[in-house]
Amino acid sequence: MSVPYIRPRRGSKEDPLRIGILISGGGSGLSALIKYQLSNPSSHKTELIISDNATAKGLKFGADFDIPAMAIELPEINDKSKRRIKHEELIHDKLIQSRIELVVLSGYMRILSPKFVKKWKGRLINIHPSLLPKYPGAYAHRDALDDGAKITGCTVHLVDEGVDTGEILAQSEVPIFDSDTIEILQERVKKAEHLLYPKVLDDYCSK
Ligand code: GRF
Repeated sequence: MSVPYIRPRRGSKEDPLRIGILISGGGSGLSALIKYQLSNPSSHKTELIISDNATAKGLKFGADFDIPAMAIELPEINDKSKRRIKHEELIHDKLIQSRIELVVLSGYMRILSPKFVKKWKGRLINIHPSLLPKYPGAYAHRDALDDGAKITGCTVHLVDEGVDTGEILAQSEVPIFDSDTIEILQERVKKAEHLLYPKVLDDYCSK
């Protein structure tokens, strides 16, 4: 079953698209996105925050900004693939209940199954901390440094069934310096992410 309740529509500042954000960690991207929505007439509005773990620091932004926020953790099912599918069903059900129209991944560290992706195709967006197709996967900064790259960046893309392979919507370049560590580079890239993601979402939601 794909998203059942509403036809895809254009968001506007008068009637923004209802966004659900999936996180796994600190949520600096989530916070930047919400601040953007609050300070600019925007075609998207965050209506729900879901983390895949209860210890994610980013969950606190729910209380800070008065937005429903919750952890939906992996259910206790022995079979790994059934566990993953059930987990995604729980998330999907919550998104539907909250009438979410677009799912935004912001530091969500799980790979979504083709089943979930199919349900949300065209309504599922991610930001990845490299200039894709370079350095896909969970270790983009390490891979860029190991490669001796002088430039990296971030990519906003639609999510398809592959890992970081969906249609690229926009990219922003970030320099790498010889003295960089993974942590230093990650912070520099995050700054670029925080500027790029809200704007690209605005563009995407209003089309
Ligand atoms: C970001 O760099 C994002 O691109 C990557 O994970 C990081 C999440 O950071 N997938 P935060 O949780 O938003 O601070």
